[in-house]
Amino acid sequence: MGVGPLNASRYFLVGGAGFIGSHFTDRLLASDGVDRVTLFDNFSSGRDWHFDQHAADPRLSVVRADVHDLKELTAAMAGHQVVIHLASNPDIARAATEPAVDFDEGTLLTHHVVEAMRHTGTERILYASGSGVYGDLGEVEAHEDRGPLEAVSTYGASKLAGEAMIAAYAHMFGLSGRVFRFGNVVGPRQTHGVGFDFVRRLLDNPSTLPILGDGSQSKSYVHVSDVVSAVLLANEWEGRIFQPFNVATGDYVTVKEIADLAVECVGLDPASVVYRFTGGDRGWKGDVPIVRIATERIRSLGWVCKHTSREAMRAAMLSMVGDARLGLL
Ligand SMILES: NC(=O)c1ccc[n+]([C@@H]2O[C@H](COP(=O)([O-])OP(=O)(O)OC[C@H]3O[C@@H](n4cnc5c(N)ncnc54)[C@H](O)[C@@H]3O)[C@@H](O)[C@H]2O)c1
Repeated sequence: MGVGPLNASRYFLVGGAGFIGSHFTDRLLASDGVDRVTLFDNFSSGRDWHFDQHAADPRLSVVRADVHDLKELTAAMAGHQVVIHLASNPDIARAATEPAVDFDEGTLLTHHVVEAMRHTGTERILYASGSGVYGDLGEVEAHEDRGPLEAVSTYGASKLAGEAMIAAYAHMFGLSGRVFRFGNVVGPRQTHGVGFDFVRRLLDNPSTLPILGDGSQSKSYVHVSDVVSAVLLANEWEGRIFQPFNVATGDYVTVKEIADLAVECVGLDPASVVYRFTGGDRGWKGDVPIVRIATERIRSLGWVCKHTSREAMRAAMLSMVGDARLGLL
């Protein structure tokens, strides 16, 4: 089944006050064709300073509420055309001690979002899934049509369940969905992640850097501005009612290389910092140490990734150092 052009002007960002959401807010409000942007967020990791610069823009509204509250979510969503769904537990390692967290703060939230869309007749969902849906494939490059998929973390399982729910609602209830399997996303206003941890730790203690695993974990780090471009481009695409897209750089950096970059961005002499590796091939239970992601599908729509993993990581860490000096980190 296919879907025609949308010409959307009213966007509803679930989890919009967080890191990635704040960049969608910037990009959408910079566009003439956009009449309304609503952020729906419980501020568990969202921050007011992420959208302060738009406080005077009458097109922006902020609803402080929780996606668990379906009634409130439905009322706030009414009148919008496109949902960008970004709310979930951001901490993959948390499930080792709280196994239900990715169901409660992942799968269930996505069910509420599509239910609210069904009640309000909202047409399109753009869903922040993740490369975690592919599980642990080692050096094998993951393509969107690969299957069966075997998650190795409850985070990956909740993203996979969210995608399945969106596909089913698209076929049963007339909405359309694009789901995005991002690599690691980095950039200004980041709220978590390996670069974020390294910068914070080095600012705290410039002589020793604890590193989870053996430092050889190797993944793609995509700049948030490239992610926003990919998602909004796929939103314009006239194609199937449900379609997954991988979004990653096509190149990879190791955790040890990120540590070296963090030392440089914080302005330290490399000889003065001791790395303390916890050992083992992965950082935590459910971590996927090697991630390889095929990106031909999104590139075939005309998407150009403007930053390599290394450039994206450097820009992100320099901005974190700046935020820390302003007391924002
Ligand atoms: N950052 C990455 O590297 C990355 C990679 C792949 C996928 N993703 C996905 O992209 C999405 C956004 O990630 P991010 O890095 O911006 O994280 P983030 O934590 O900065 O943003 C998530 C936002 O959702 C809000 N939220 C969480 N639970 C909520 C609830 N129950 N009700 C209302 N609001 C709630 C938080 O307050 C926060 O503002 C997440 O779903 C994440 O899994 C992120």
